[in-house]
Amino acid sequence: MKRILNTNEFLHGGDYNPEQWWDEPDVINQDFALFKQAKINTVTVGIFSWAKLEPEEGNYDFSWLDSIFDRVEEMNGHVVLATPSGARPAWLAQKYPEVLRTDNLGNKRGFGGRHNHCLTSPIYREKVREINTKLAEHFGQRKSLVLWHISNEYSGECYCESCKNAFRDWLKNKYGNLDNLNHAWWNTFWSHTYNDWSQVNPPSPLGEMGNKGMNLDWKRFITDQTISFIDNEAAPLRKITPNVPVTTNMMAGNPLMDPFAGFDYQKVAKHLDFISWDSYPAWGNDNQTTAELGRNVGLVHDFFRSLKHQNFLVMENTPSRVNWHSVDRAKRPGMHELASLQDVARGSQGVLYFQLRASRGSSEMFHGAVIEHLHPEQTRAFKDVTTVGKDLENIRPIINTNYAKARVAIVFSYDSYWALQDAESYSKDKKIWQTIQKHYRYFYKHDIPVDFVSVEDDFSNYDLLIDPMHFLMSKAYLKKLASYVKNGGRVVGTYISGVVDENDLAYMNEWPKELQDIYGVEPLETDVLYPGQSNTLNFDGHEYKAHDYCETLINCRGKVLAKYASDFYQDTPAVVEHEYGAGKGYYLACRTDYDLLEKFYEKITANLIPEFPVKKFSSNISIQVRENKDQKYYFVQNFSDKSEQIKVDGELEDLLEKKIDRGEVVLNPFGSKIYYKKGN
Ligand code: GLA
Ligand code: ZN
Repeated sequence: MKRILNTNEFLHGGDYNPEQWWDEPDVINQDFALFKQAKINTVTVGIFSWAKLEPEEGNYDFSWLDSIFDRVEEMNGHVVLATPSGARPAWLAQKYPEVLRTDNLGNKRGFGGRHNHCLTSPIYREKVREINTKLAEHFGQRKSLVLWHISNEYSGECYCESCKNAFRDWLKNKYGNLDNLNHAWWNTFWSHTYNDWSQVNPPSPLGEMGNKGMNLDWKRFITDQTISFIDNEAAPLRKITPNVPVTTNMMAGNPLMDPFAGFDYQKVAKHLDFISWDSYPAWGNDNQTTAELGRNVGLVHDFFRSLKHQNFLVMENTPSRVNWHSVDRAKRPGMHELASLQDVARGSQGVLYFQLRASRGSSEMFHGAVIEHLHPEQTRAFKDVTTVGKDLENIRPIINTNYAKARVAIVFSYDSYWALQDAESYSKDKKIWQTIQKHYRYFYKHDIPVDFVSVEDDFSNYDLLIDPMHFLMSKAYLKKLASYVKNGGRVVGTYISGVVDENDLAYMNEWPKELQDIYGVEPLETDVLYPGQSNTLNFDGHEYKAHDYCETLINCRGKVLAKYASDFYQDTPAVVEHEYGAGKGYYLACRTDYDLLEKFYEKITANLIPEFPVKKFSSNISIQVRENKDQKYYFVQNFSDKSEQIKVDGELEDLLEKKIDRGEVVLNPFGSKIYYKKGN
């Protein structure tokens, strides 16, 4: 059965930990009064509540949570119920110390912090399964229960004996025997050949850190352990509450806004029913415009939406500021509404916060909250949240729509990302995610919808794939890509691609045949430039700079779109277009600034630029579409602190202000319009 989040309104609310105030009922009464005022309809409860749910082993107390469910149901709201495995009670850590993590230097961690658990510990898995079973049995029939939120921001690794043994078993299962393992990890190098499985250990600064195959397999192993931990958590929930979807909150880094890469989210996504992520951009920072940051956030929304190619949920964001950026700046007026509507524009089915009520003490007491310590009704955050609550009510029918269909996709492979980051060559920071962001910029500017695809996804619905810096390509992927292009697909590839196979072993003698067929060329050498150095390209009569990586190409059979202007590879091809079967490959052999990418994509995407009934005149404006078979909704958003003009063709209804707009319209600084057009 396909389980998706099923509500008839956008979720608005977030993390709520009333157990902190259990002896102060006035605080909780005040919370619920304020929820009503701020149009909060959802609470996410139980995330770190294990000690309150099971104060002693086997002694459960769910009465307090029952009363929260009752109150939420009185207001016709929704509950997102978390499982508590993200932090464990002191009694559990004391009685079963094996549940705690061991680091890669062999240090056993003590009780404290959170997310501090071993992934393979049988007793921890049993304890988690037990409490999840009890929660599902007790709360599973509650009409307000819309979603299971398992654990919290899964991350991290453990190097205890149990985890080491699990790693060895995982390797045995993958390689069958040590000869195969020794070959895949290229262990004859530096005399690293194993002759007994007990010699195999995870990567550690105390032992081996430079074995590429080992590092890669460790990441894959952590992915699989996280998956089996998730499956273990989810099993009782799926059995007892088959209609309630299961999610967990995923993460993106800051300030880069790159998806977490401690394990493979694309693989993990297959074990979840619904995707959620926690969005904490540093709005108002001092080295990016809001439009630039908005673009990077748009991209990472697209990444998370693409994990299941369906709507998702922003499970956490802050109504004001965080307590962990390098500078915890508050959102400027209008910024919160802008960011929240961007979430929805890109496919979020709600806007949820960390946190509803600020905790009074401990680590996160100064993190922004809907309800702050002082004058809670008067804070800007509270007013901003109320505005968003009203907006979400006004756009309620949009809950039944999806993000517009994309015909362009960016290929992203965790294996390749890990292997290239780990490659001891090129330069220290290879800027892989920044490269993806640079390519994406063109599509964002023209409001062309973009998906991400994993190497396992179906490519056949896309006109164009962007496949930058795809260092590790499996033989299966090479075949798949070649057949996609042969059958009419187009692909843009770049420098540092197709260098190693699935074991992180270099391809030998020649570049994989499939890539030669697609791109009509072969790379021979990569010239790596210092940051201040550059080469020049001539493309369509204009000069552009090349930086960082310049590959020299040989055996060119394609059409040369640009050549290098200097150095020992002067006058050799730098950008090549090549027909293969019914499709085309475009190879960019060097890294350039955005200026060249813009000209390049202009040439090849004329058929992909969407037509809207509203025109923009600035790249500070983003136009996103959510639609179903009968309706289209246009989210027109101004990511600048200045007013911007747009032009409506004919008439459009603005759902936020509930009025009809015609002709020239001014969008306020950070302002949004959500237009509705009947028919599709
Ligand atoms: C994460 C966690 C929350 C909280 C917030 C603070 O996203 O999931 O529990 O710590 O960060 O920003
Ligand atoms: Zn362990």
